[in-house]
Amino acid sequence: MGQLPSVPRVMKPSILVTKRVYSEAIEYLKTFAEVDYEATDDGLAPQELVERARGKQAIVSQLTDTFSAEVISRLEGVWVLANVAVGFDNIDVGAATSRRIAVTNTPDVLTETTADFAWALLMAAARRIVEAHQFLHSGQWRRWTIDLLVGRDVHGRTLGIFGMGRIGQAVARRARGFGMRVLYHDSVRAAESLERELGLEFTAPDRLLAESDFVTLHVPLLDSTRKLIGAAELRKMKPTAILVNTSRGPVVDEAALADALSRGVIAGAALDVFESEPHVHPKLLELDNAVLAPHIASASVDTRRRMCLMAAENAAAVLEGRHPPNLVNTEVWQS
Ligand code: GLV
Repeated sequence: MGQLPSVPRVMKPSILVTKRVYSEAIEYLKTFAEVDYEATDDGLAPQELVERARGKQAIVSQLTDTFSAEVISRLEGVWVLANVAVGFDNIDVGAATSRRIAVTNTPDVLTETTADFAWALLMAAARRIVEAHQFLHSGQWRRWTIDLLVGRDVHGRTLGIFGMGRIGQAVARRARGFGMRVLYHDSVRAAESLERELGLEFTAPDRLLAESDFVTLHVPLLDSTRKLIGAAELRKMKPTAILVNTSRGPVVDEAALADALSRGVIAGAALDVFESEPHVHPKLLELDNAVLAPHIASASVDTRRRMCLMAAENAAAVLEGRHPPNLVNTEVWQS
């Protein structure tokens, strides 16, 4: 039995689902709980969040819901914040822990889907697929020419990966098929067996930046990773290099990146995440060498459906007094 209270058998728990999820998750939650749910994409502002959370034991949240220390201090009787995302930087986990609120996420299920998308972005930027698409759609294709939309080779090049967690590893695994050399950096070095299996070379950030043709980011957003890539780091990259970010926007200094792209400090960028979503730095929107996507790296039908169900299962576990499968703040649970 965990340290968190278990649900008295007579009571039907109440759950707030903050915004639209796949309907299977709602159907599942309704089998054992009262569900406060509106199938809208609007999300809840902090005050609304606090009000709608009243009388709820669980909240199924999304990365657009901000659970600051202030919001968390006003949650009464909530036992679990079940985030539908692997990232949980939208939640002040320390504040949740101090109020003994479990925080859960949805890892693993999105690893391969996100790695696929990081590669899709990398390839799109390297081979100028978005530019090519726009070129055709706007009726500009009149004749074939020798250097029409020439891009950069991917195969045989050097890939630099920041963050060798689950997604970083899945990205590295794919690089083997392209015969690439893979450099990586992480705060903790990977096991030798993994380095050997994936053909990884651990290196300092400066060397990774200087030698990589593609730099891809797979770190969580922490104080230590905020603006990991800024003006100084961009200057260390090759002028032919491409930066890919599918992690979190604030890991990159967006203004510095826009500036570097417009001045040719690096050749290109492919971004799925932004510092202040859905706002995108206006300069990035004007650049042909920036491929931009609206935070969709995990957005395959199967994966998004699984993520919703997984969050619902995490909420259910806590409400039933079971250790949730994906507990982030393990300290709240003492066996
Ligand atoms: C998406 O960005 C996630 O963290 O799952």
